[in-house]
Amino acid sequence: MKITALTDGPLLVEGLTSLVDQNGREFTLGHAPTIALCRCGASSTKPRCDGSHTKNGFRCPPFELSKAPPAVAVWEGEGGASKPVK
Ligand code: FES
Repeated sequence: MKITALTDGPLLVEGLTSLVDQNGREFTLGHAPTIALCRCGASSTKPRCDGSHTKNGFRCPPFELSKAPPAVAVWEGEGGASKPVK
């Protein structure tokens, strides 16, 4: 799987095999293993991007991965009860 943070836009996820919500319900991906996930919060088709970010002026500071990969946090729990375990 590959995730690309698009400039001032969604997260483009390629090679996705499954997407579930906090209740374990699986979203239908159809025949497209690539999906654009909204990160501006304005999409009316969440979790998919519907292009609203271009209208609401969404801006996200660019980030670059350092040479050392960032630490990966493992979470457990649900919703507001989530807490990092590592
Ligand atoms: S990132 Fe596109 S609608 Fe939110």
